[in-house]
Amino acid sequence: MNLRLGRVSKREHLLEVCIREMLPTEANKAAALESTIFGSDAWDVEVISACIVHPGFRFLGAALDDGKIVGHCCLAWVESGCEIVALGVLPAYRRDGIGRLMMREMVRLGRESGASRMSLNVRVDNCAAIDLYRSFGFEIAETVGDYYEDGESSYRMALSCASDIESVAVEDQVHPR
Ligand SMILES: CC(C)(COP(=O)(O)OP(=O)(O)OC[C@H]1O[C@@H](n2cnc3c(N)ncnc32)[C@H](O)[C@@H]1OP(=O)(O)O)[C@@H](O)C(=O)NCCC(=O)NCCS
Repeated sequence: MNLRLGRVSKREHLLEVCIREMLPTEANKAAALESTIFGSDAWDVEVISACIVHPGFRFLGAALDDGKIVGHCCLAWVESGCEIVALGVLPAYRRDGIGRLMMREMVRLGRESGASRMSLNVRVDNCAAIDLYRSFGFEIAETVGDYYEDGESSYRMALSCASDIESVAVEDQVHPR
């Protein structure tokens, strides 16, 4: 199980956040979190359980020092490289740097594995996520019409892992805000 510690600012104080692998026994917890974050788009417990145990996936949680999981993300290895297939933070913990910590870990894992490209889909109106992805060097490659079940389009965003790692926001540890 990988453990990556980071500190993020939670208004007046610092939060210790550990990005770690989720366990199969935590699938129900992850499904509850998923439902709070994504509502009707949420993955169910079967999908999450499959992602946690799949050898080609890494399903990571953002754990506070009291053990509470406040966000999670999932990275999948596919033919064309790595695909970020999930990323979410509980509403009460947003804008404190936790999404950035998880992204940093996924980009690190992708690069470390030798993937030449990382990709993802994001709703075209999801400015928060698009800003976050851009800050890591992801660029919009194309718009995919009717991508989501409600008919909304996605931006397909991609990061070439050959690009200069120093130019993106992947510095380790403390992220002061
Ligand atoms: C997208 C999401 C994961 C970001 O998580 P977070 O912990 O709030 O993000 P961070 O605090 O690490 O913010 C990192 C950067 O993201 C961008 N960002 C985050 N929230 C933003 C907002 N509300 N508006 C604009 N930009 C935002 C900013 O660039 C921010 O950097 P800054 O704080 O230096 O300005 C979170 O908003 C979320 O869970 N949203 C719902 C689920 C979702 O849309 N997931 C993505 C699916 S593709």
